[in-house]
Amino acid sequence: MPKLEPERSLWLEPLVEDPFGHRISYLRVSVTDRCNERCRYCMPEEEQAWFAKDETLSYDELLRTVRVGATLGIKKVRVTGGEPLTRPGVAGFCADLAQIPGIEDIGISTNGTLLAKLEDGVTMAERLVKAGVRTANISLDSLDREIYKRTTSRDLLPRVMEGIDAAIAAGFQSIKFNCVLMKGQTERELPALIDFAREKKALLRFIELMPVSTQDVLSEDNFLPIATAKKLVEQTAGELTPLPEFRTNGPAAYHLIPATGQRIGFIGAMTNLHFCENCDKLRLTCDGKLRPCLGSYLEFDLRSVMRGGCSDADLAAFFQNVVARKPKEHDFRHNYQPNRRMIAIGG
Ligand code: 5AD
Ligand code: SF4
Repeated sequence: MPKLEPERSLWLEPLVEDPFGHRISYLRVSVTDRCNERCRYCMPEEEQAWFAKDETLSYDELLRTVRVGATLGIKKVRVTGGEPLTRPGVAGFCADLAQIPGIEDIGISTNGTLLAKLEDGVTMAERLVKAGVRTANISLDSLDREIYKRTTSRDLLPRVMEGIDAAIAAGFQSIKFNCVLMKGQTERELPALIDFAREKKALLRFIELMPVSTQDVLSEDNFLPIATAKKLVEQTAGELTPLPEFRTNGPAAYHLIPATGQRIGFIGAMTNLHFCENCDKLRLTCDGKLRPCLGSYLEFDLRSVMRGGCSDADLAAFFQNVVARKPKEHDFRHNYQPNRRMIAIGG
């Protein structure tokens, strides 16, 4: 792949900033809509209309997009899916990402089931670390095999446990566990999840259910607000100390458990009214749509522009136009009805 020396003309606006002052430096790149699990809140069993191969951006197309994004101020890339580790060659893709000038931080979001998978005696986790992936965010909704199975429709918790150990052995600089809060389910597991994260030296985050699946998943019956989860945690862990200065890449609000020194995060997309204030993200779907926000219908067809033979300067202008249309905040609180499954957006 030829190296793109950024032309001066691409540097007209060195950083992409939207009308609300959000400085865009973070691109989430979905490499596939396929997944080996079927989480209730993401991709229910019955919905399986995958994109055809030629509808999905090739690695070269993805790399070109990131390269142009990097000339505009994208510094961090998170590789997502679907389950990104189901796409062949993903570690090689990450290694190529790491070579792009300006890209300082690469992370992966995974369900963890394939991290321990061996290829020529090397685990997937080791391959990713060697490729330059710095952080692994691993979904972990339950430590109970039956509940895990009910949530993901797959009996893969033992594989996730192997995956977590493989990730630790591989030496990621940071490992996070993401737990989607489900009312009637997560409450009784909060202490065990917290203990487990501490043992594994991982940062645990609790995520409010968002309306990005079939419409019936997000209902009063399933929704567990972060404020309730926090109160429940405090019943066993003692009062939490907010850590407003501690930030990772996302909108999580971190708290300290003083007795153990452990930090835990709460991602309250639905109930935290300041959720979008510091958003620095864009999303690229695996079929080549650039989305300025997870919780908005807006998406822009980068694939057809790119396949139409545009120049890098055209692509840069496309990026800037999308950023200019980034909404002030997501639409989740306004009777939002999903037009795409989470799996087809990139979690
Ligand atoms: N609400 C909240 N989080 C979700 N995820 C997937 N679907 C939803 C949803 N409807 C999370 C998964 C995973 C990350 C990629 O996105 O838990 O950790
Ligand atoms: Fe797959 Fe992740 Fe969606 Fe679950 S949340 S179905 S693991 S992509």
